[in-house]
Amino acid sequence: MKLAQRMERLAIESAFEVLVRARELERQGRHIIHLEIGEPDFETPRHIREAGKAAIDEGWTHYGPPQGLPELREAIAAEICRTRGVKAGPQHVCVVPGGKPVIFFPMLALLDPGDEVIYPNPGFPIYESMIGFLGAKPVPVPLLEERGFSFDLDIFHSRVNERTRLVILNSPQNPTGGVIPREDLAAIADMLRDRDAMVLSDEIYSRMSYSDEPFASIASFPGMLEKTIILDGFSKTYAMTGWRLGYGVMPVWLVDAVNKLMVNSNSCTASFTQRAGIAALNGPQDDVDSMIGEFRRRRDAFVAGLNRIPGFHAQLPQGAFYAFPNITGTGMKSKELARALLEEAGVACLSGASFGEHGEGYLRFSYANSLENLEEACARMEAFLQRIQK
Ligand SMILES: Cc1ncc(COP(=O)(O)O)c(C=O)c1O
Repeated sequence: MKLAQRMERLAIESAFEVLVRARELERQGRHIIHLEIGEPDFETPRHIREAGKAAIDEGWTHYGPPQGLPELREAIAAEICRTRGVKAGPQHVCVVPGGKPVIFFPMLALLDPGDEVIYPNPGFPIYESMIGFLGAKPVPVPLLEERGFSFDLDIFHSRVNERTRLVILNSPQNPTGGVIPREDLAAIADMLRDRDAMVLSDEIYSRMSYSDEPFASIASFPGMLEKTIILDGFSKTYAMTGWRLGYGVMPVWLVDAVNKLMVNSNSCTASFTQRAGIAALNGPQDDVDSMIGEFRRRRDAFVAGLNRIPGFHAQLPQGAFYAFPNITGTGMKSKELARALLEEAGVACLSGASFGEHGEGYLRFSYANSLENLEEACARMEAFLQRIQK
């Protein structure tokens, strides 16, 4: 029996492939520093874990509403209003198992074959995978290092046309750590406001913004809330990647479509996980603040270390927990260098090219690891490059 043709158009995330190879090397007795997987190395804060455990004992172990528990949707709507300065209510919120379904379901609901989707390149690989899966047309827009990995607005403008159905934005960004400046968001909003197109604004790293400017969402610009799907969740902010809890905030007509897809796929998100989510949003935020403070310290130290490596040049990323150094000075291709660093230096990282063709010439490191390991990784990479460049 052969698989359906559409499966050929579905890609995977190379982070998981590199992780498998790194684990294999570990089984052979090698010591590997893991800078490939994008997840906080912190525990889920204690009060959230306790709320999840209590919820199981209290019987939150049954089906719930496909759209999510009303109390959690209230808490999410309040959070979105407060942090994005928009007027959204619980009727606009879909609670789903992680951030990824907010890519999957709205795209499934919105795109017909041939519809054009504009998205960042390099970018989170799932966007391109889903565009291909649905038979839509991928329209990548390069992110430019010299613009802090934001778009060239002229190029962006030239890609928008009457077939554009969806524009995907991601800020702070994976893999570059770039943040789209407020004035760029304003310009993008002006280009899209009067068009029959939606924006998927992936804001999963919204709390991890280190710039002096407060986080800005395209949804907060005039006329844009009703054209925007905000993607956010608990995985990164509350170190809850394994709980599978995320949400989308969108116009009610799209909520109805996502509900239908939930009924047909998951029925609902785990009820006790959602109770833990309520504790996360309504409880103390000190653990989140100290985790983000720690990421900032690591970012500063790690980027300084990367810039000491021959052939590497790294910008100071303004958000998320990724560094994306330019490695063209090494004379090696990204994939070749990423492979050699894993095999020869015991440092697991990702090739920039695995995030799209414009990622060639870069590597992605997740600095969600201890300062000690980050320093050791820089020392190993420096020694390796000195060795091969002799
Ligand atoms: C940009 C971006 N969006 C969405 C996600 C998905 O998050 P989740 O694990 O909650 O599905 C990730 C995870 O790496 C991400 O980097």
